[in-house]
Amino acid sequence: AKTRHYTFNIRYQNVTRLCHTVKVLTVNRRLPGPPLVAREGDRVLIKVINHVAENVTIHWHGVRQLRTGWADGPAYVTQCPIQTGQAYTYNFTLKGQMGTLLWHAHISWLRATIHGPIIILPRRNESYPFEKPHREVPIVFGEWFNVDPESVIQQALQTGGGPNVSDAYTINGLPGLLYNCSSNDTFKLKVKPGKTYLLRLINAALNDELFFSIANHSLTVVDADASYVKPFQTDVVLLSPGQTSNVLLKTNPNFTNATFFMAARPYATGQGTFDNSTTVGILHYGHSSTPIPATGIPSLLPNLPAINDTNFVFNFSRKLRSLANAKFPAKVPQTVDKKFFLTVGLGTAPCPNNATCQGSNGTKFAASINNVSFALPSTALLQAYFSRRANGVYRTDFPARPIFPFNYTGTPPNNTFVSNSTSLVVLPFNASVEVVLQGTSILGAESHPLHLHGFNFYIVGEGFGNFDPNKDPANFNLVDPVERNTAGVPAGGWVAFRFFADNPGVWFMHCHLDVHTSWGLRMAWIVLDGPKPNQKLPPPPADLPKC
Ligand code: C2O
Repeated sequence: AKTRHYTFNIRYQNVTRLCHTVKVLTVNRRLPGPPLVAREGDRVLIKVINHVAENVTIHWHGVRQLRTGWADGPAYVTQCPIQTGQAYTYNFTLKGQMGTLLWHAHISWLRATIHGPIIILPRRNESYPFEKPHREVPIVFGEWFNVDPESVIQQALQTGGGPNVSDAYTINGLPGLLYNCSSNDTFKLKVKPGKTYLLRLINAALNDELFFSIANHSLTVVDADASYVKPFQTDVVLLSPGQTSNVLLKTNPNFTNATFFMAARPYATGQGTFDNSTTVGILHYGHSSTPIPATGIPSLLPNLPAINDTNFVFNFSRKLRSLANAKFPAKVPQTVDKKFFLTVGLGTAPCPNNATCQGSNGTKFAASINNVSFALPSTALLQAYFSRRANGVYRTDFPARPIFPFNYTGTPPNNTFVSNSTSLVVLPFNASVEVVLQGTSILGAESHPLHLHGFNFYIVGEGFGNFDPNKDPANFNLVDPVERNTAGVPAGGWVAFRFFADNPGVWFMHCHLDVHTSWGLRMAWIVLDGPKPNQKLPPPPADLPKC
């Protein structure tokens, strides 16, 4: 194993898309940012230098950070932000994970433009549990705003209403030729006939789950969130923000001179306005750059499910199974020490004094878990926990069950009371934990991709309607459930996952739709140290930023 050094310079860069030039925040002046490439077992040191006026942190999404919680990155959870002119070196080892993840800014909405791939290759002399690809290609999905994304979320929080949607979806930073002014801003992938390509798909969009497909080609899914799955073929892949997946693309041996479209478009249900536009890229065979007939584009597009096709999404997620073989076993907790039943959803909260709120009936939008809308403190939770100075920073009374039991589906309940607090859950070291996330559908059935920091979990069950604690556990898959770090709570349904709390620290869990996180759909877990020296969280590094 090696040690790899990276420097990430946070700077402004003028970027033009859709004929709008916007001064955006970037890493090393790139959009998307540079890939972090390492082998399993490597130590990685990334020095992040902040040259801009905004406070910044970077999160290595999906990296387990075993006993390196200080390098996890969510602002006010594991660290205070890196301020103007300051630097912080993230220092961690990639243990037991292979595949694709992503890094992104973890403060306010800065990840709109501060994000990039994490590529974890197998150790030297190790190979993939599938055919060796001819080439590997990262494909990063994002969103482009014609204005500063920070102004969008700041305005939404001030008015208590919903934010404006982005102006385009992008593939590797490019909107594609279906958007205005974008005929030259189209991602192109040149391929040879009869070869296998490994596409490393990353959904770095702020607020949209996306369908992805390539016309006339099927894809073989081999991995999800840097965990191998039993390979399966599909025409369409669904990725929630924060999710990643490796897929194999076999090119047709008979195509020598041909052009096909790849496309991504959102999956969305529930309230609010959604942009249902399509980002496209081009797959070119050979040296051809066959001109695209402007009138023929619709017929060249792949078929994507309808924007609200929840059945497709549910069936797709049920196809994902851990590889679960001797070399890559599934270590699913078979018994449970701690059970949590958490309702996740949108609701409304009273409009603060002196504000004019644009949510329904003059209230403001709020999002919550068990009716608690999580408030971030002004100092870092992990620092407060480590120095045993919780007083005033956080409480440890987060409810393991909802405060108001009601039927979460069907008629919207009228009790949408939401309280603001910084309340955490404490887990003993190595507890086996089961979490059922139940969508509340108060403002309409909407899917929520929940992301847990510091762990992978096994998705043991999911369903529509209300979770039934007497019936549903009998159908849990405890053999080969998919292992992920981000799970979609089905629109109008529930998902159950299990994990071992084997990583001491403070770990954030939140909806990876940034607007929901901003509205409070977030919480944090404290995992206590274990008795042995190698089960304890070491002290913070000397350069950890101060608030
Ligand atoms: Cu990818 Cu807490 O985020």
